[in-house]
Amino acid sequence: MNKITQLFNIKYPIIQGGMIWNSGYKLASAVSNSGGLGLIGAGSMYPEVLREHIQKCKNATDKPFGVNIPMLYPNIEEIMNIVVEEGVKIVFTSAGNPKTWTSFLKEKGITVVHVVSSSVFALKAQDAGVDAVVAEGFEAGGHNGREETTTLTLIPMVKEKIQIPLIAAGGIATGRGMLAAMILGADGVQVGSRFAASIESSAHNNFKETIINTKEGGTHLTLKELAPVRLVKNKFYYDVQTLYEKCPSQEELVHLLGRARAKKGMFEGDLDEGELEIGQIAGLIHDVLPVEQIIQQMMTEFDVACKEKSKFEF
Ligand SMILES: Cc1cc2nc3c(=O)[nH]c(=O)nc-3n(C[C@H](O)[C@H](O)[C@H](O)COP(=O)(O)O)c2cc1C
Repeated sequence: MNKITQLFNIKYPIIQGGMIWNSGYKLASAVSNSGGLGLIGAGSMYPEVLREHIQKCKNATDKPFGVNIPMLYPNIEEIMNIVVEEGVKIVFTSAGNPKTWTSFLKEKGITVVHVVSSSVFALKAQDAGVDAVVAEGFEAGGHNGREETTTLTLIPMVKEKIQIPLIAAGGIATGRGMLAAMILGADGVQVGSRFAASIESSAHNNFKETIINTKEGGTHLTLKELAPVRLVKNKFYYDVQTLYEKCPSQEELVHLLGRARAKKGMFEGDLDEGELEIGQIAGLIHDVLPVEQIIQQMMTEFDVACKEKSKFEF
């Protein structure tokens, strides 16, 4: 038992990060059933679709699960009300000000966690009254901080500033990565990319194949003028880079991005025109596996690595 397993009442301190177009109820319930904490990613769902996923998740697991709500998307008020109406017990907010919704959720008895990319924002989240913080480093897949602070440096810096439980995210896909993050001061880990390449992820198979074929150096954090996002270097990514050569205005970037690129890429499998969001750790992901196996492998490796302490006695 530690602070994170106690906070969420789970077996292992492994959280599956909310991921647009990847983390529906199938992924979330599989993670929760395997001893971690599964999160439904509300960011890619219309409010009533989210309601359906919550209800299906309740049927698919009797273990704790949560909902991730990125606050940059529309309909937030409706989404917050659905989460309350459906009796969701855990909410992870991201991409917004933690002050906006934390007290509303806490008053309803919901455990609230906020995702940050710096120690300044970690402190703000703590001041807003959240129960824990996810500190997400530059390596991570999806939207990210502008400052490019890596997980290795971010975790100890956040740890120095906050007293509430700390969850590390970004670049963690193995038991060794998990142990490293915990030695740096994290109480648990949030894993995204590794679970995107799982059988239960709702992503298109083309995207899952792309993840396992992405090599070291195959992703880049770009579109910082809009909302920084780490993308696979596909045709769309190179179109963005070509536009950058012309010093584009923000409007031109918005125009190129257009609408529904992430859906096109990750959900519909258009590998050329779609936005493919994945972390640097994709270079270490070589197979699409069932969630249960991913978690068991992580925990076995974690235990083996813990026992290797004697290697470090000089
Ligand atoms: C495809 C994809 C979609 C993501 N979507 C979201 C999201 O909707 N909300 C969010 O808070 N984080 C999102 N993330 C970030 C993850 O929740 C997680 O923090 C991150 O993936 C951890 O880093 P890793 O990819 O190196 O494991 C996304 C990540 C990926 C790979």
